[in-house]
Amino acid sequence: MIKCRVCGGSPTEFIDFGQQPLSDAFRAPDDATDEFFFRLAVGLCPDCTMVQLMEEVPRERMFHEAYPYVSSGSAVMREHFEKTAQQLLATELSGPDPFIVEIGSNDGVMLRTIDKAGVRHLGVEPSASVAELARMQGIQVLGEFFEASSAARIRAEHGPAQVIYAANTMCHIPYVESIFQGVDTLLAPDGVFVFEDPYLGEIVARTSFDQIYDEHFYLFTARSVAAMAQRFGFELVDVRQLPVHGGEVRYTLARAGRRTPTPAVADLLAEEAGAGLADLTTLQRFAAAVGEVRHDLVALLRRLRAEGRTVAAYGATAKSATVTNYCGITPDLVAYVLDTTPAKQGRLTPGAHLPVRPAQEFRPPYPDYLLLFAWNHAEEIMAKEQAFRAAGGRWIRYTPTVHLV
Ligand code: SAH
Ligand code: TYD
Ligand code: ZN
Repeated sequence: MIKCRVCGGSPTEFIDFGQQPLSDAFRAPDDATDEFFFRLAVGLCPDCTMVQLMEEVPRERMFHEAYPYVSSGSAVMREHFEKTAQQLLATELSGPDPFIVEIGSNDGVMLRTIDKAGVRHLGVEPSASVAELARMQGIQVLGEFFEASSAARIRAEHGPAQVIYAANTMCHIPYVESIFQGVDTLLAPDGVFVFEDPYLGEIVARTSFDQIYDEHFYLFTARSVAAMAQRFGFELVDVRQLPVHGGEVRYTLARAGRRTPTPAVADLLAEEAGAGLADLTTLQRFAAAVGEVRHDLVALLRRLRAEGRTVAAYGATAKSATVTNYCGITPDLVAYVLDTTPAKQGRLTPGAHLPVRPAQEFRPPYPDYLLLFAWNHAEEIMAKEQAFRAAGGRWIRYTPTVHLV
């Protein structure tokens, strides 16, 4: 019996995707070694309401010197993180000699703005591939996992941080007790711990089941984050919904009693209660809707194949590993995937083994259909690929339901 990673309770499983590969383990075409698989299933803790994976993948298998995900691949995300940095600079980092630590700084997409402003900073990034991309721009990066021990060393060397920030990283980290211990050691008495991640409310509303994969250990709500914060001596003092990555929430935590929570916290908690986000029945309904999407998507792809249509996909996302392997989408249904990331090109997607081709070289003759795996970047991608649509190509979407655009 597995235990809740936050409170030790016994999570109730509500969806099982079966055996799944590592979502970012792109393979060389001639690689004949066995792929690593684990059981991807999700449960709800009845005690603290945290939604989490039922099986944990060792962190070194996911985050290493060949981690291929590069944050700066999207213009929208570059702008999002520049704005985020500007905001932090104007508010929390406006005092004398401020210091900010980012957990999961990747290629430095957020810290580059902090660095340009001349503010002391440290990125903590265990994946050497992307940490190096940040260092090449002059950004300070510690090539380690953030946890209690590394946080203590950072505190000893640099002093307290006014802000500890993490984007799309806290949900990747099962060992929250060690994280909060580290935050407690490193954060200034009145500092803030700010993190933003995919929001369970949006995942349920959009049936975006592909937000579930090895790296996304937690699917947060304001309620579960508030409970987690409280358990470790912190308090949820602000929340803000963000449009990026298919709907996220930015949580601001402070030490308990140090700041007055904004009305937005109570508002979102009330909204979540109304939506039944902590109810098992809501999550079971979500699971049923996911089954329907699989059925409809497979039926559509088989029909197109029978009609002799050509189908490719756009965006070799980590998310798409769940879609392809859960739905059984192999190269006979989707010929290849277009992607701009050099580290993914010329390789095969995990499990399903779809070849990845450079999106930069996408030109006629076009396929008849493109399955949009990177649906969270729909506007940006569709604007860039207008010629495909103008030539009669159609996009296939699968959230919230399967439809053509
Ligand atoms: N913040 C970026 C990157 C998100 S990807 C963005 O929003 O685009 C998640 C990143 O977290 C990866 O680069 C991974 O290497 C890193 N990571 C995983 N566990 C970590 C830990 N314990 N400490 C610091 N970084 C971690
Ligand atoms: P993303 O959805 O950001 O994340 P995840 O891998 O966590 O699911 O990944 C987007 C992928 O799509 C990434 O591999 C880069 C690629 N991409 C393009 O090929 N073209 C584009 O215009 C954009 C924005 C992304
Ligand atoms: Zn729990």
